[in-house]
Amino acid sequence: MSSSAHASLFQKFKLPNGVEYEQPLGLFINGEFVPGKERKTFDVVNPTTGKVVGEVHGATAADVDIAADAAETAFYDGPWSRMSSGERGRLILKLADLLEENMTTLASIESFDNGKVFQQAKGDIYSCIRLLQYFGGWADKIHGKVIETSPGSFNFTKQEPIGVCGMIVPWNFPLLNCFLKIAPAMACGNTLILKTAEQTPLSALYAARLSKEAGFPPGVINILSGFGKTAGAAIASHMKVQKVSFTGSTAVGRQVMKAAAESNLKKITLELGGKSPQIICEDADIGRAVEWINAGIFYNSGQCCSAGSRIYVQESIYDKVVEAFKKRAQANVVGDPFDETTFQGAQVSEAQYNRVMSYIELGKREGARLEIGGERHGSEGYFIKPTVFSNVTEDMRIMQEEIFGPVCAISKFKDVEDAIAKGNATKYGLASGVHTQSLSTAMEIANKLRAGTVWINCFNAFDAALPFGGYGESGFGRELGKAALDGYTQTKTVSINLS
Ligand code: NAI
Ligand code: MG
Repeated sequence: MSSSAHASLFQKFKLPNGVEYEQPLGLFINGEFVPGKERKTFDVVNPTTGKVVGEVHGATAADVDIAADAAETAFYDGPWSRMSSGERGRLILKLADLLEENMTTLASIESFDNGKVFQQAKGDIYSCIRLLQYFGGWADKIHGKVIETSPGSFNFTKQEPIGVCGMIVPWNFPLLNCFLKIAPAMACGNTLILKTAEQTPLSALYAARLSKEAGFPPGVINILSGFGKTAGAAIASHMKVQKVSFTGSTAVGRQVMKAAAESNLKKITLELGGKSPQIICEDADIGRAVEWINAGIFYNSGQCCSAGSRIYVQESIYDKVVEAFKKRAQANVVGDPFDETTFQGAQVSEAQYNRVMSYIELGKREGARLEIGGERHGSEGYFIKPTVFSNVTEDMRIMQEEIFGPVCAISKFKDVEDAIAKGNATKYGLASGVHTQSLSTAMEIANKLRAGTVWINCFNAFDAALPFGGYGESGFGRELGKAALDGYTQTKTVSINLS
């Protein structure tokens, strides 16, 4: 970050598709856009060109303190603390409506800042709306139980909000990652401080303004742009933050958990990386399976925590599937995110581009066969051709480590038992896919895979109502579905002596 005493708080932007709008640039604290206490700013980069397109204000630990005070006051004393659950739900639904009205602008910002395909960005915003509608509906349906013990007592439980929730999100789905946390946290009555990823600060700031327009009281939603080591670490270790929900790398997830343990034992939800298997059995509908494995790895330029990056094909159909998949992957149009024919945009940053390219070099050195791709697409920006490695063995790092780019590893399996063993040969356990026409094979594999989600004859089939989260080193706690409410409430037991 650099120091800039006179950086503006708003700026008119004109995006490549002609959309014009006013972009907030400040930190959103206590309902206002403000500069950081230390007057730091940092660059915003368009990954399609690699050029700097503006600068936003950056938070330091001092700003996290201010935001935590605002969020704590809003939680205990502000109008939010006195609001009925139905009224809270109505505000959440109002925000959903405002997102819908601003769909084109928000999706354009997302493409511009992240490099993702505009059509896919629209899908992200649609998912944000669905999430708000789903959790807005929950707001007045969260309640405890009456529990019978002895005739002389009356006992009940309440599901209370936790308090100030810290949220730290990555750049792959900039706004969607925010609402995966904000929507359930709001439904349960918490307040929050959210730090966006330094690569993609823009869309959340625009949404912050919409939250004000919807009528969320000051201090309930605080949005900070900033870096992990400063603002992120300050949130994870803050004594007023009662819960932290983190999405990102397993390495940083560990640090967040440690910071939580060493500060106030704040509650934690971790949604970390993955190395999800896709298993294609010999009785699968090969044409459809190939569509799913293609979308499963190359959607969002391969930058999905759930990406189906390990592809296991049954021996008897291996050659046929590899050929069909190569052909399918080569048909993916890579390039300008705003072009309607494009399927794959840019990687988010130069750092991610370099990281993915280094894994491609590693795969070659490890002796895997590079079937297609493996190189830069175009001459500017951070584009990488869809890359497929075959003959990959379990011990290779490209089979074990999260690459987070348009790169997948293919290998063979003998029978169902072998498929399950290989599918489970990972420290991760986020998601998985099975392609077969046999219900019993599908269920046997689904029961035995150690992963938070199993998709059968589909992939990345998310819904606001379906819980999502990890086994193993992919983290714990669930986002989406009713299960997400558990992460934002705590149980209070009240026991009355009637005798
Ligand atoms: P990262 O885990 O460093 O960043 C995610 C978020 O954590 C960002 O907001 C960042 O500012 C914050 N952060 C970083 N250090 C922190 C700290 N010490 N304390 C608190 N917050 C901190 O991920 P990065 O560097 O952007 O990507 C590296 C790799 O991580 C990717 O290649 C991918 O393998 C994985 N990743 C996984 C994601 C997922 O959805 N599971 C999302 C993004 C990255
Ligand atoms: Mg950017």
